[in-house]
Amino acid sequence: MPTSSSAPNRTAEPCTVVIFGASGDLTKRKLVPALYNLYRDGLLPQGFSLVGFARRHKSNEQFREEMHEGAIAHSRAKPTDNDEWDAFASNIHYHTADFDNPEGYAGLHDLLGQIDESHGVPKGKGNRLFYLATPPDAYTRIITQLGAVGLNGPPPSQCADCGWTRIIIEKPFGRDLDSAHELNVHLLNVFDESQVYRIDHYLGKETVQNILTFRLGNSIFEPLWNRRYVDHVQILVAENIGVEGRGNYYDTAGAIRDMIQNHMLQLLALVAMEPPASFTANAVRNEKVKALQSVRPIRADEVGRYTVRGQYTDYRNESGVPAGSTTETYVALKLMIDNWRWSGVPFYLRTGKALPQRLTEVAIQFRQPPLMIFSHQDHEGHVGLADEMEPNVLILRIQPNEGISLRIGLKPPGSEMRLQPVDLGFHYGTSFGAEAPEAYERLLLDAILGDATLFIRRDEVEAAWSLVTPIMEGWTAGYAPKPSPYWPGSWGPDAADTLIAQDQRMWRTI
Ligand code: BG6
Repeated sequence: MPTSSSAPNRTAEPCTVVIFGASGDLTKRKLVPALYNLYRDGLLPQGFSLVGFARRHKSNEQFREEMHEGAIAHSRAKPTDNDEWDAFASNIHYHTADFDNPEGYAGLHDLLGQIDESHGVPKGKGNRLFYLATPPDAYTRIITQLGAVGLNGPPPSQCADCGWTRIIIEKPFGRDLDSAHELNVHLLNVFDESQVYRIDHYLGKETVQNILTFRLGNSIFEPLWNRRYVDHVQILVAENIGVEGRGNYYDTAGAIRDMIQNHMLQLLALVAMEPPASFTANAVRNEKVKALQSVRPIRADEVGRYTVRGQYTDYRNESGVPAGSTTETYVALKLMIDNWRWSGVPFYLRTGKALPQRLTEVAIQFRQPPLMIFSHQDHEGHVGLADEMEPNVLILRIQPNEGISLRIGLKPPGSEMRLQPVDLGFHYGTSFGAEAPEAYERLLLDAILGDATLFIRRDEVEAAWSLVTPIMEGWTAGYAPKPSPYWPGSWGPDAADTLIAQDQRMWRTI
C-alpha cells in the first residue's frame, strides 16, 4: 500500500529500540535480522541503538553473539562482512531485568539516558521505540511499569519539542473482544493512541500492500470491484507446517485467533474497503474499520451453517498439546459484507496447518457472462457448454511465487468456436528484479519514522474481535460439530467442501 512512506525523503531520527522479550525466538529470527538489513541498506539513522530487555542473565557480548548467530541463520542478507556486523552490533546492549521489578525499569531509564548522552542527544530529546515481543500475559505489567518510571513519554500533541516515544505490541492482542478492550483501556491509560503501533506482520508484506495499489491504481479493475461483476471471493492461507513446537501457545489460540482474527481479516479488509481519501494512516484505517464493521456477524447459533473446523490427525501428539484437545488447526468460513459494494457477494476464508503446501492467495471470481453462443455438440450429438469453461478469476498471490494472474477464456486453435481457460500472469521476482524486504523490515522502519498506516488502530482490532468472538462462543456452546480430523497433507476436512458446495461453488483447485 503506498503509504505516506512512499514520499522519497523518509529520514529517520536517532533513536533507541528496546525489545522486551529479547531472549525469545521472534527477536532472534525476525527483529534483529530486520534491523540488521535496515542498517545495511542505510535506512537506520546515525545514533541508532538497540536494547534487549529480558529476564535471563547475559552480558552485552553474549547477547550480541546470539544475535549474530540469529542473523547468520535467518537474515535476508547474511552478515558475511565482520566489520559491518561489528559496527552494527556495537550499538546493541542487553539489560537483564524482571518484567515485574520496578528497579529493572529504573535501570532501563538510566541506560537510555547514558545511550543518549553517548550520542550527544540532549536530555529529554531521546527518541524511544518499545517493542513488546513477550508472551501476551506480560503486556499489561510492562506497560504499567513503563508508565510508572516515566518512560511513556509525552504524546507529540503535548510536547512538540520532546523526543518521541512509541510502543509496538505484537499479536495476539487479546483473546476475545473483552480482553482486547481491557488491554486497550490499560494501554491508553499510559500511552496515547498516536504512540501505539499494534503490529500484524501481514501488512508488512509487499504483496499485501499491493492489494490496494493494484485495485486503485489500475482503471480496468477498479470499476469491476463490486457486486455487479464479482461472484465471490476466496481467501486462502495454507501452511504445510504443523505447530512446530509452539503447541503450548497454539492450543490456547487455534486457527481462528492465530490467523483469522488478524491476518485474514486484514486481507479481507484490504480487498473490501472503499478507496481512502488519502494514503495517510487515519484515512486508510478509517476505511478498513468501516469494511470490518460492514461484515455481517455470524451469531453464535449460526456457526453450524457458516463455519467448519478441522484438526490434523497428528496434532494431539505435538509437544505441549493436551491429549484430548479440541483446538482447531483448520477453519473455513463464509462471510457476507452488508454494504453497497458487496451485498450478496460471499467471502470464503480458509486457513489450516499441515495442508499440502504453503500458499497465501486472494482469488476474486467474476460472474460468468452468458455463454450460450459457445454451446457445442459433442461426438454423440449432445449439445452443451465446453467442460473447461471457467469464469474469469483474478488471483493475487501473496506468497510464495508472489504475483498476480488473471484467468481468461480464449479460443484454442482449431475449427471449433469454443473457450479454453488460459492465464495472464505477472511475477514480482522477474518483473521487479529486486528482492522484497522482509515484512518486519518495513514495519520497524515505519514505526521508527512514525508512520502508522500499516499498523492496527484500536477500533480496528476491536472490530475484528467483534466478528470472531461470537463464532468462538458458538463453538464453545456446541452450536457446531467439533473439529473434524483431516490427514496432514490433505486440503482439510470434507465438511469444508460441503460449506461452499451448498452455494453451488467450489474451492479453487490449487
Ligand atoms: C503467525 C502465526 O502470526 O503467522 C503462525 O502465529 C503462522 O502460526 C504465521 O505460521 C504465518 O506467517 P507467514 O508470514 O509465514 O505466512
